[in-house]
Amino acid sequence: MDSFFIRPETPDDISAIFEVNFQAFAHYDEANLVNTLRDSNIFNPELSLVAVCGDRIIGHIMFPPVTIESPQASIPAVALAPLVVHPDYQCLGVGSALVEEGLNACRSFGHRIVIVVGHPGYYPRYGFRPARAHGIVAPFVVADDVFMVLGLVPGALDGIQGTVKYPDAFDAIVGIRTTNGEKINLLS
Ligand SMILES: CC(C)(COP(=O)(O)OP(=O)(O)OC[C@H]1O[C@@H](n2cnc3c(N)ncnc32)[C@H](O)[C@@H]1OP(=O)(O)O)[C@@H](O)C(=O)NCCC(=O)NCCS
Repeated sequence: MDSFFIRPETPDDISAIFEVNFQAFAHYDEANLVNTLRDSNIFNPELSLVAVCGDRIIGHIMFPPVTIESPQASIPAVALAPLVVHPDYQCLGVGSALVEEGLNACRSFGHRIVIVVGHPGYYPRYGFRPARAHGIVAPFVVADDVFMVLGLVPGALDGIQGTVKYPDAFDAIVGIRTTNGEKINLLS
């Protein structure tokens, strides 16, 4: 594979990002979710990164804001969702580059906590751990090892407990699929 690089998305990338999400997931849920998030007032284009090889978008990652809600507080965080690499370019390090550069971008914006719903064999390599062990739970039914959290700075998770609240844009899709194909209904 030719070399690739990571950069924030631009308006010219919108259709290619839609296409790579469709190609990687083989359905439109995440592709539509990305468009809905982009059209919302919570969108930060600096936290929507693309992997570029030649003139082709081969991967995409997004970090929409979420909150961790408890009776005492509403703690800001971001979700890592979605992450995609085009099937022709998977297992070549593109996903890892998107995650690592994405987490650095999140740190640069002062974010402290990242939530992910994903494969328990993939995300722990970046430091993600089951969220429930920290007292952070999902607003939907999900296996504990699939719902993970990462503190981006030392102490970020100290004393943080509650239920994650996703942006309304996630309500527009009936669910999300994890890397093992399991579909989770975010509305349940
Ligand atoms: C999951 C995904 C983003 C990984 O990106 P990638 O560029 O292929 O991954 P990398 O090359 O950085 O890393 C390769 C490692 O990831 C693992 N991996 C790749 N796809 C995986 C998957 N679907 N589930 C679990 N692990 C996976 C590989 O086994 C490999 O592990 P190893 O380093 O121990 O050998 C990519 O396969 C993809 O887009 N899949 C379809 C969409 C998806 O499931 N997105 C994640 C939603 S939570």
